[in-house]
Amino acid sequence: MKSLKSKLVIIGVGHVGSAVLNRAIAFQLANEIVLIDMDEKKAFGEALDSSHATPCNYSQNINVHIGDYSECKDAGVIIIAAGPSIMPGENLDRLVLAERNIAVIHDIMPQITHYTKDAVIIMITNPLDVTTYCAAKCFDYPENRLFGTGTTLETLRFKRIIANHYNVDAKDVQGYMLGEHGNSAFPAWSLLNIGGIPADQLDNFFNKSESLDRQEVAKAVVQVAYDVLNCKGYTNTGIAMGACRLAKAVLGNERSILPVSTPLKGEYGLTNVALSLPSLISENGIERRFEVNLPTDELEKLHFSANSIKGVLLANKL
Ligand code: LAC
Repeated sequence: MKSLKSKLVIIGVGHVGSAVLNRAIAFQLANEIVLIDMDEKKAFGEALDSSHATPCNYSQNINVHIGDYSECKDAGVIIIAAGPSIMPGENLDRLVLAERNIAVIHDIMPQITHYTKDAVIIMITNPLDVTTYCAAKCFDYPENRLFGTGTTLETLRFKRIIANHYNVDAKDVQGYMLGEHGNSAFPAWSLLNIGGIPADQLDNFFNKSESLDRQEVAKAVVQVAYDVLNCKGYTNTGIAMGACRLAKAVLGNERSILPVSTPLKGEYGLTNVALSLPSLISENGIERRFEVNLPTDELEKLHFSANSIKGVLLANKL
């Protein structure tokens, strides 16, 4: 972990932003964390509360405070978690938030770019691929220095479900959910392995009489968000962990390969859309996107994801 002055700015300190703050402190991601929120009293309360947690950290002191956008000037990472989320209910789709949260991005991005085009921006605000595309395209932000959490979160959920089925450590499940952070995200079964054992050999190796229903798993991963939402009223822990994992890859220059959302530049014949592909993440942001070989059925799912996002981009004149 870089011991230099590393500064994290969190914009939006609701359920998600405050969970990001807590994990950023626990991970010791930065020695300065600044909270920006329209509700300054809420932000101050979160900063004050956290400032009494940091003395417990066995690390360099972490200075948590509120601020305005000028704090972005020397930020290493800016996490955008502002704007409303979907509410509990039936037939949920993050894409319904597009118009409302595109406006939030149009409010936030100019205030960031007034101070910096250097910080690596990690987008959380939903609909994630739409807001990521909007921020990258409408504000001329250096494209490698802005990405969305994307299917990093679905991938965590996918790993958990696979690990539970085979009764192994989820950290030893290598694989991805790709495409949209949302209803059309899909498991890249062709890339899945556990400890190097490829997906089609897992049932044998783990003596599973009945094999995984791949359709059911794909649906279960997408459904997790709605189950959490309908049980606790919001989601925040999983996304905060995913966002902090990405911030750690940037601040620690870890050169990690994780599935994040960025505007595609012709990968799989796709342009004018942001989607999640395995990407190499370092202090420079996205160093590379990996156009991994995908079988026809997974390519079709990727294009389906792209079309569902493009439809919303078009409807919002992006
Ligand atoms: C979720 C939100 C972050 O999937 O979209 O939990």
